[in-house]
Amino acid sequence: MQRQVRPARTLRGAIVPPGDKSISHRAAIFNAIADGQALVHGFQRAADCLATLRCLRSLGVQSSWHPDARKDEATLAIHGRGRHGLSESDRVLDCGNSGTTMRLLAGLLAPQPFFSVLSGDRSLRSRPMARVIEPLRRMAADIRGREADTRPPLAVRGTPLRGVRYRLPVASAQVKSALILAALYADGETVLEEPDCSRDHSERMLQAMGADIRFGDGLVKVKPLAHDLRPLPLRVPNDISAAAAWLVLAVCHPDAHLRLEGVGVNPTRTGVLDALRLMDADIGLEEEHPPEAEGSEPVADITGRSSRLRGAVIEGDLVPRAIDELPLIALAACFARGETVIRGAAELRVKESDRIRATARELRRLGADIQELPDGLRVRPTGGLRGATVSSHGDHRLAVMLGLAGALARGQTIVRNAGAVAVSYPWFWRDLDLVSGRRPC
Ligand code: S3P
Repeated sequence: MQRQVRPARTLRGAIVPPGDKSISHRAAIFNAIADGQALVHGFQRAADCLATLRCLRSLGVQSSWHPDARKDEATLAIHGRGRHGLSESDRVLDCGNSGTTMRLLAGLLAPQPFFSVLSGDRSLRSRPMARVIEPLRRMAADIRGREADTRPPLAVRGTPLRGVRYRLPVASAQVKSALILAALYADGETVLEEPDCSRDHSERMLQAMGADIRFGDGLVKVKPLAHDLRPLPLRVPNDISAAAAWLVLAVCHPDAHLRLEGVGVNPTRTGVLDALRLMDADIGLEEEHPPEAEGSEPVADITGRSSRLRGAVIEGDLVPRAIDELPLIALAACFARGETVIRGAAELRVKESDRIRATARELRRLGADIQELPDGLRVRPTGGLRGATVSSHGDHRLAVMLGLAGALARGQTIVRNAGAVAVSYPWFWRDLDLVSGRRPC
């Protein structure tokens, strides 16, 4: 599928982004091993999170949808089976495009008393898995993978595990969460250390469900489960990664004022707001609500208006806190005065695509002056972008970023492989039409 995008003349309105992807995955997986049913409102109904539900169903966990008062949303009921209630699947667990599904399930399945195979689409089968296999093996897990145990499919033969002390080489919430899940079933405490703080949704939710987990200052300490987790009913906040797309569109456009409603503003996720503010973007937080209950997350409405952006250096702890939004920041940099450098972000090379290479290549087609660095990007102003034919490389974050680039460029842009948005934001193209004052087609 390809999409034609024309320049947006004015941008006005309020958007309710989809539910947070990271929190939706975790709500499903953690509630699957809790003792009883949990209702999850605003669960992200897009391909990645649906892959998690499909895998859980194959492991014997039922879930069902109920209509929700909010448009585009449904409430998910997850029927938890207790910590020893999963059952062996007679088929390969298909994680689709979702790294979060594969890595978290690798950690959950390593201590189960049965055999599992995890696979996914071509992009996922090329992504690095040694980062979970290696530490899980230190816990005595029996996991194998293709290419000398570095790539999917993964074969997991469940075994009893032991607690470990482990320092993650890179800040990664997926790896951390896989190890936390394994640690819940291990014999003895596990202590994890991270070089920088990655998103802490797993820690917050599991603590609220009754797990013995302590976290802060780059350390996570997990004790084995002595009893079943309590089901955690929750409203998933709206996804800051999706909201960030509209904020970037607004701050780069000369006539824009957009409002994003009910967005999760967990400090481990708000690097994109800090980075845009460093660039002098006019971004406001309103209706801020601290976490309502244990395990829930802070939420706010966020506004973005036309801004005179300047270049900035994006590095250090901003990088893991804005990891999925860095291609959007590179787009914003095309509209800034002065140079922007993103560094310390080599992780972008092993996402759904090599996002350093793909962002540079596609933005260059649109007239950007953008250079690949081994661990980031350098962007210099060229006075805006001009329409061209670009490709998402099958990567949802790039499809979204290029759609926005098209709305900001002069002339017409064609985004190839535009259907990739289905992974995290199935109605993105409709929302782009709506905010640009066009009727959705
Ligand atoms: C995610 C963590 C991040 C992020 C991904 C979702 C999660 O990956 O890029 O989109 O839900 O834990 P890493 O943990 O590999 O950095």
